Amino acid sequence: MKFKTLLILVAIIAGIAAAYFLASDNNSRSVENLDHVVKYIAPEGYNVTGQVHELQTTEKGQRVALLPRQFDTGEFTRKPDFARQEGFVGPESCKECHADYYNGFIETAHYKTSAFANKSSILGSFEAGENVMETKQPGFRFELTEKDGQFLQSLLVDDDGKTYSHNCQFDIVTGSGNAGQTYLYWQDDFLFQLPVSWFAKAGWVNSPGYPDGFADFARPVGAGCLTCHSTRIEYSKNRVNLADKETIILGVTCERCHGPAESHVKFHRENPDADGAKFITHPNDLPRERMNDICGQCHAGGGVNLKPPFDFRPGDSIEDFKHFKKEPTTGGSVHTANQHPRLIKSKCYLESDSMNCATCHNPHRNEHGNVKLFSSRCMKCHEPEHCGQFADSGQRITSNCIGCHMPKQNDENTKMEAADKEFFPEIRDHFIRIEKESSREVLDEWARNDQQPKPGDKQPK
Ligand code: HEC
Ligand code: HEC
Ligand code: HEC
Ligand code: HEC
Ligand code: HEC
Ligand code: HEC
Ligand code: HEC
Repeated sequence: MKFKTLLILVAIIAGIAAAYFLASDNNSRSVENLDHVVKYIAPEGYNVTGQVHELQTTEKGQRVALLPRQFDTGEFTRKPDFARQEGFVGPESCKECHADYYNGFIETAHYKTSAFANKSSILGSFEAGENVMETKQPGFRFELTEKDGQFLQSLLVDDDGKTYSHNCQFDIVTGSGNAGQTYLYWQDDFLFQLPVSWFAKAGWVNSPGYPDGFADFARPVGAGCLTCHSTRIEYSKNRVNLADKETIILGVTCERCHGPAESHVKFHRENPDADGAKFITHPNDLPRERMNDICGQCHAGGGVNLKPPFDFRPGDSIEDFKHFKKEPTTGGSVHTANQHPRLIKSKCYLESDSMNCATCHNPHRNEHGNVKLFSSRCMKCHEPEHCGQFADSGQRITSNCIGCHMPKQNDENTKMEAADKEFFPEIRDHFIRIEKESSREVLDEWARNDQQPKPGDKQPK
C-alpha cells in the first residue's frame, strides 16, 4: 500500500514537473507570465517521504515556483472509481432530536476543523499592511487579497521593473485556528495545498514543511488531510488528490465517532416512541481499547495505511487499518501528537481499567484551554493529598495538575518558517508522569504571579 501510494505520488510529481519543462520550452502552456521570471524545479528537487513530499533547497538566489499542471478535461474517467461512503447524513440531521449535543458540538475544534473559505472562516488578515508575506528571496513575496467575495493568495515576483503574479483562490480552510490554519484549493476536481498558512502566534507564514523562499502551488492533497480533518469525502482510489467535492461533510462530526446514522435517523423518525437507540454506536458500550481506537483514527500518530481510512467504523480495531511506527514518541507523521500511544504508557492507564479518552474529554463541548476543568478530571481518581507536591503547595495544586504532569511541548513535525523565524505549535504530552522540570516551571510561574501587586495591595511609594 505504501509503495503503491509512493508510486502514484512520484508519477504525479513527475507529471507536474514534465509539464513545466515542456511549458517553459515553448511557452505554449505558460500560466500567467510567471515562467519568464521563475525557474520550475526539477523532479529530483522533490523529496518524497511517505505521504509528504518536501522541496529541497536549490542553489542560492534561485527563484522557484511550482504550479500544478493544467489537466485536460476528460483526461480521466472520474466518478466510477470513487471510493463510496454510504449512509452519512451530516450533523445537521441530529439537531432535531439531540439539540443539546448539537449546540455544544458546533463550538468545538472538531466541528470547525474544516470549512469552506469565507470571511469568517479564514482567520488571517486581508487588511492593507497585514496582508503581505515577504520571503528571504528579494522581490519574491505573497499577497493575500479579497476581491468581490473571493479570497486569493498571490505570488508576486519583481523583475526588470515589472511585477508578475500568479493568483490562486482559497477554497477550503483546514484548522480551527486554535493553533493555525492551512488552506486548500480545487483545480477542477483536483485538490492542492496553498503555500501560505496562518498561525495564531505569527500571522501569515509558509505552510508547514514549505521552506521559505519557494512558491509551491502544486502540492497534491491526498485524502490525507481530509481523512483527519473532515467527516468524509469520496476520493479516487487511483489518484491521490482527485475527489468528488459534492460529497464532502466538513468538520470531524458526529458520524466519525458514532458511525453513519442514516438508518438511526430513519428508524427514530418513524418510531418516535421506540425504547432505546437503534442503529448507532454508543462508544461507552465498546471495550475501552475499541473506544480509544475511535479517537486513534486521527490521534495515534504516524503509520502506513493498511485499509482506506474512511472505511473505519466505531468498534473496528485501528491496528487493522494502520501499521503504526513502533516507538511512540511525541512525533508522528503528519503532525499528530500521538496522544493514544503516549497515554497508554502512563501508570494512570496501565493501573486503572477505566481510563479512556473520554475520561478527560467531552467531545460535545468546547473545553479548550480550561486547565482547571481538566485538572478536576484528574481528581476523578486522585486525591490532591496524594500528590508529592501537596505538602509544599497545598490546595493550589488543584488549579493545574496538568501543567506539572502533562507538560506542553513543541510539535517538531509542524515546523513553519517565516523569513526570519521558525514556529512550532505546542501540544500536551499525554504520557502522564512525574516531571521535575515542568514542575519547576509551574512553581516559578506561581512565584512570579505572587510578586505581582494585586488590586487592593498597598503600592510601594
Ligand atoms: C428522530 C430522532 C433522532 C435523530 C434525528 C437522531 N437521533 Fe440519535 N437517538 C434518538 C433516540 C430516541 C435515542 C435513544 C434515546 C436517547 O439516548 O436519547 C438516540 C440515541 C443516540 C445515541 C446514543 C446511543 C445509545 O446506545 O444510547 C447516539 C450516539 C445518537 N443517538 C447519535 C445520533 C446522531 C449522530 C444523529 C445524527 C446523525 C442522531 N443521533 C440523530 C433519536 C434520534
Ligand atoms: C477524523 C479524525 C478525528 C477523530 C476520529 C477524532 N479527532 Fe480529535 N481532532 C482531530 C483534529 C483534526 C483536531 C484538530 C482540530 C483543530 O483545531 O482544527 C482534533 C482536536 C482534538 C482536540 C483538541 C480540541 C481543542 O479544542 O483543543 C481534542 C481534545 C480531541 N481532538 C480529542 C479527541 C477525542 C477524545 C476523540 C475520540 C472520542 C477524537 N478527538 C476523535 C481529528 C479527530
Ligand atoms: C493523521 C491525522 C491527520 C492528518 C492526515 C492531517 N492532520 Fe492536521 N491535525 C490533526 C490533529 C490531530 C491536529 C490537532 C493537533 C495535534 O494533535 O497534532 C491537527 C492540526 C492541524 C492544524 C492546526 C489546527 C489548529 O488550529 O489547532 C492544521 C492547520 C492542520 N492540521 C492541517 C492539516 C493539513 C493541511 C493536512 C494535510 C497536509 C493535515 N492537517 C493532515 C490530524 C491530522
Ligand atoms: C470526537 C468523537 C465524537 C463526536 C464528533 C461526537 N461524539 Fe457523541 N459521543 C462520543 C463519545 C466518546 C461518547 C461516549 C462518552 C460520552 O458520553 O461523552 C459519546 C456519547 C454520545 C451520546 C450518548 C450520551 C449518553 O448520555 O449516553 C449521544 C446522544 C451523542 N454522543 C451524540 C452526538 C451527536 C449528536 C454528535 C454531533 C452533534 C456527537 N455525538 C459527536 C464521541 C463523539
Ligand atoms: C481513571 C483514573 C485516573 C485518572 C482520571 C487519572 N489517573 Fe493518575 N493514576 C491512576 C492510577 C490507578 C495510578 C497508579 C497508582 C497511583 O500512583 O496512584 C496513577 C498514577 C499517577 C501518577 C504517578 C505516575 C508515576 O509514574 O509514578 C501521576 C503523577 C498521576 N497519576 C497524575 C495524574 C494526573 C495529573 C491526572 C489528570 C491529568 C491523572 N493522573 C488522572 C489513575 C488515574
Ligand atoms: C507544581 C507541580 C505539581 C502540581 C501542580 C501537581 N503535582 Fe502531582 N507531583 C508533583 C511532583 C514533583 C511529584 C513527585 C513528588 C515526589 O516524588 O516527591 C508529584 C507526584 C504526584 C503523584 C504520585 C504520587 C505517588 O506517591 O506516587 C500523583 C498521583 C500526583 N502527583 C497527582 C497530582 C494531581 C492529581 C494533581 C492536581 C490535583 C497534581 N499532582 C498537581 C508535582 C505537581
Ligand atoms: C488524564 C486526562 C486525559 C486523558 C485520559 C486524555 N487527555 Fe487529551 N488532553 C488532556 C489535557 C489536559 C489536554 C490539554 C487541553 C487544553 O489545554 O485545551 C489535552 C489535549 C488533547 C488534545 C489537543 C492537543 C493539545 O495538546 O492541546 C488532543 C488532540 C487530545 N487531548 C486527544 C486525546 C486522546 C485521543 C485521548 C485518548 C487516547 C486523550 N486525549 C486522553 C487530558 C487528557
